[in-house]
Amino acid sequence: MNEVTRDVVIVGAGAAGLTAAHELRKAGLSVAVLEARERVGGRLWTDVIDGAMLEIGGQWVSPDQEALKETIAELGLETYSRYREGESVYINAAGERTLFTGEIFPVKPETEKELVRLIDKLDAMVAETDPDRPWDRPDAEELDRISFEAWLEQETDDQEARDNIALFIAGAMLTKPAYAFSALQALLMAASAGSFSHLVDADYILDERVVGGLQQVPLLLAERLGDDVFLEQPVTEVKTAGDGVTIVTDNGMVVRARYVILAHAPILYPWIEFDPPLPRLKQQLHQHISMGFVIKVHAVYDRPFWRDKGLSGTAFSPYELSHEAYDNTNHGDERGTLVGFVSDRNADDLFRVSAEERKERILASLANYFGPEAKDPLVYYESDWGAEEWTRGAYAASFDLGGLTRYGADLRTPVGPIHFACSDMAGAGYQHVDGAIRMGRLVAQNILDEARR
Ligand code: FDA
Repeated sequence: MNEVTRDVVIVGAGAAGLTAAHELRKAGLSVAVLEARERVGGRLWTDVIDGAMLEIGGQWVSPDQEALKETIAELGLETYSRYREGESVYINAAGERTLFTGEIFPVKPETEKELVRLIDKLDAMVAETDPDRPWDRPDAEELDRISFEAWLEQETDDQEARDNIALFIAGAMLTKPAYAFSALQALLMAASAGSFSHLVDADYILDERVVGGLQQVPLLLAERLGDDVFLEQPVTEVKTAGDGVTIVTDNGMVVRARYVILAHAPILYPWIEFDPPLPRLKQQLHQHISMGFVIKVHAVYDRPFWRDKGLSGTAFSPYELSHEAYDNTNHGDERGTLVGFVSDRNADDLFRVSAEERKERILASLANYFGPEAKDPLVYYESDWGAEEWTRGAYAASFDLGGLTRYGADLRTPVGPIHFACSDMAGAGYQHVDGAIRMGRLVAQNILDEARR
């Protein structure tokens, strides 16, 4: 049995856990990071599949993501812009394909008016929403009781305007149907990105990528931590006694520490045995938060054929299987890569059919946007995070109806020496790497403050 003693033990070597470990070490505390998988990075995973480098997990960086940008700069990583020259594609409910430039989809003038009105209204509401405390809004209870879909129905009779506004939060961000989360949860999502308009603007929210892949952030952080990162150590028990904790892993490792940080998706807490058990409020809370579900699809071609047609590779449709798609060609690569996303109920449906049929249907959807060439990639890969034992969904977790006002404020509250950090509980950068880094920094600071007291 491998037994070690540290000031702080961190469970999970994702961006949140590694940031926390790094900050604590800088401040002079000893740390051990226990990671269940055989690799670091969690939802950041850059790999070579059939000769193509793919970003299986998170990849894009937006201008508001200051914590991530600082980390990227500090680690000496380079970034590059997503390809965006040319026209984007929109497909309406009748299956009609239209090319456009700018942010607003090419819809009937009356629908466009509704889209602009709703975006303005949501921007105004978001401006009054603190992403760290959305439950402080005077109308928080009311907004948390109504689904985003029902809220949109109250706002407009225009179905196409509703479908498109819903898409920016539901399919594209929380990756749940718009009836499954509250209007308050939608405001939190938009507030965490600075405004609703930022979510509408793909050139803003999906701005840059890291040369060589975003997993380099956790890989380089882990390199700095050296032997203090322990792989293939799934934590199964957290015992609190006296003024410390004892952590036990499935591989027989035991770590004694003054503090523990659980730095993984909150939906995974119930897989750990706590002695004594977590307080009942936490146990309730964890039953009201769940992961979204999305398939990220990668298709690599011998060249970016869509560019020859004057297309940017950007495409949207709430009515297509792949509700959005982008040019995801790697920096300096002659081949062309498209990335598409199939979300929530569409993803459920696709996992009911064979792998061959799934591929055929997804590529047919990409072909609807970009032409028949899309049906014949050199490399095809589906990121299937729903099947990952140590994540169980994508992109991240959100509350069910009423959950934010009932439990949101308790999500980050420590339980004695047990602290919590993850992108899924961030304010700014919520559900993003930026939020993971912010939560890693915050939890490290909280522990340092407590240790000094
Ligand atoms: P994360 O889940 O990454 O890390 C937790 C770690 O804990 C994991 O390594 C896990 O194995 C480990 N663990 C869990 N249970 C354990 C246990 N019991 N014992 C030990 N270890 C345990 N973001 C963004 O900014 N831009 C983007 O473009 C995207 N796109 C995107 C696409 C896809 C497909 C996904 C899945 C996600 C994104 N994201 C994203 C989201 C982003 O990747 C995510 O929010 C952060 O990487 C989460 O980092 P955390 O460290 O909070 O958790």
